[in-house]
Amino acid sequence: DMSTALGAVPIPSPVLTASGCSAFGRELEPFVDLTAIGAVVTKSVQLRPRSGRPTPRMAETPSGMLNSIGLQGPGIDGLLDGELPWLAERGARAFVSIAGVRVEDFAELATRLRGVPGVAGLEVNISCPNVESRGEVFACDPVAASDVVAAVRAAADPAQPIYAKLSPDVTDIVSVARAVVDAGADGLSMINTLLGLVIDPDTMKPLLGGITGGLSGPAIRPVALRCVWQVHAALPEVPILGMGGIRSGLDALQFVLAGASAVSVGTAVFNDPSALGRIHAELAAALETRGFASLREAVGYAHR
Ligand code: DHB
Repeated sequence: DMSTALGAVPIPSPVLTASGCSAFGRELEPFVDLTAIGAVVTKSVQLRPRSGRPTPRMAETPSGMLNSIGLQGPGIDGLLDGELPWLAERGARAFVSIAGVRVEDFAELATRLRGVPGVAGLEVNISCPNVESRGEVFACDPVAASDVVAAVRAAADPAQPIYAKLSPDVTDIVSVARAVVDAGADGLSMINTLLGLVIDPDTMKPLLGGITGGLSGPAIRPVALRCVWQVHAALPEVPILGMGGIRSGLDALQFVLAGASAVSVGTAVFNDPSALGRIHAELAAALETRGFASLREAVGYAHR
């Protein structure tokens, strides 16, 4: 039994897309049964359309990639008019990532998403690394992070669980996790990308137009797994959507054993667009081989 839940919302598979890695699901449709995966986690949306940061916006490294997109997207009107109806018509669940500059932006987005068909919940992106200063990363400060989450919880549809997306770029992720849970988060998404830099040896200048970018992929997997472990140890009742460099069922298994009740797969879909179905099957087989009758039995097993 591979069923799990996002907050109180049941989902048939613990494997979800990761925000930003397959836009709004359309480009994955030829490769993935969008109704069979846990949910499509959509690219963080803001109130207004945005054109994003200067190019280049992606840089590859041997064990991961950096991106500096700058939250390019259609804005909430574009999402409500085009992308969400398209997903709902197919019976796919959308876990909608929201982002803003001010606390009120997040609250307004949550208000606009109330009662929208197919919206299984909200992922609150308080940890986008591509901002002008670190002071703008809400998730780097427990008070700023909890202000956003409290405002979203007050504005959001009570039937839509809200997951706060945490940044690994903090000295104590457990204190941020506690703060957002106290503020009303139903779950935690861990982790967002790690802030990184690449310098082009030919031009001898930063490769990315935005200079720094978010590092994802296998390079960050042990960091992500450590974050999930620490937070599950401190807050064992809080659902965790684990992510960071998952490429295989055995990678996903490690996140489940550390305490994640679902996982997102992002960077791996760039190499292999059918990775989500494959990882679901590999995880199911790995659980069965190890004697687990259900996914739920395995959540946090490494702590026991
Ligand atoms: C962007 C946002 C993120 O949360 C992230 O991890 C990487 C990039 C962005 O759109 O710039």
